[in-house]
Amino acid sequence: NPVAAVIPAAGRGVRLGPGAPKALRALNGTPMLIHAVRALAASRHVSLVVVVAPPDGAAEVKSLLDAHALPDRTDFLVVPGGESRQESVRLGLDALPPQYGTVLVHDAARPLVPVDTVDAVIEAVRDGAPAVVPALPLADTVKEVEPATVAGAPEPVVATPERARLRAVQTPQGFDRETLLRAHETVTGDVTDDASMVEQLGLTVVAVPGHEEAFKVTRPLDLVLAEAVLARRRL
Ligand code: C5P
Repeated sequence: NPVAAVIPAAGRGVRLGPGAPKALRALNGTPMLIHAVRALAASRHVSLVVVVAPPDGAAEVKSLLDAHALPDRTDFLVVPGGESRQESVRLGLDALPPQYGTVLVHDAARPLVPVDTVDAVIEAVRDGAPAVVPALPLADTVKEVEPATVAGAPEPVVATPERARLRAVQTPQGFDRETLLRAHETVTGDVTDDASMVEQLGLTVVAVPGHEEAFKVTRPLDLVLAEAVLARRRL
């Protein structure tokens, strides 16, 4: 049962500040996307990586992949992405050859995920879970608010979920291929991850331990942290 990874990398990365699409920005001189591709291809189970490029950037992404050293045993495909993350993932799934029974979906914006986390997700899918997410306990207490209509205005707090029962969810998320395809065909409406679409089908999603270094590069400070992690790895 070969494993394919779909990497949505079509976001603009507005929260990171002005510049190139987020996935193409450099971390210690190498584009974030290349780090993410290497992180997934580092798993000996992953034999195909599908990169979903910015809609007008597929050629550029293809030449980036050609220009960087990547494992020989892995195949790479590049497809143009869409307006939303969900659409980008679906376009990636459309490009998957039929032999891949297990699919990982991994944000290009999580370039430093360790291979052990990737393998733990794959193993849980192979053990029979239709959907698997890597997840970590929260440091912060989380509150639900009534969102203000004017940015910066005070927001009434509605509820405080018990922190010990909450997890922050990362990627790669792993799926039985048929389950993920059905989720993408059936579920409409905005979602922020793929596993929640499987939840909406009424199936059980399981969480396995995530990793601190699988954090999402979203804001400028995250770039500083990512480069520090890379520098430490070189020691
Ligand atoms: O916006 P967010 O941080 O949730 O994006 C997560 C991932 O989804 C990023 O890797 C981003 O490039 C990707 N994405 C995409 N297509 C979009 C929007 C986001 O592939 N239209």
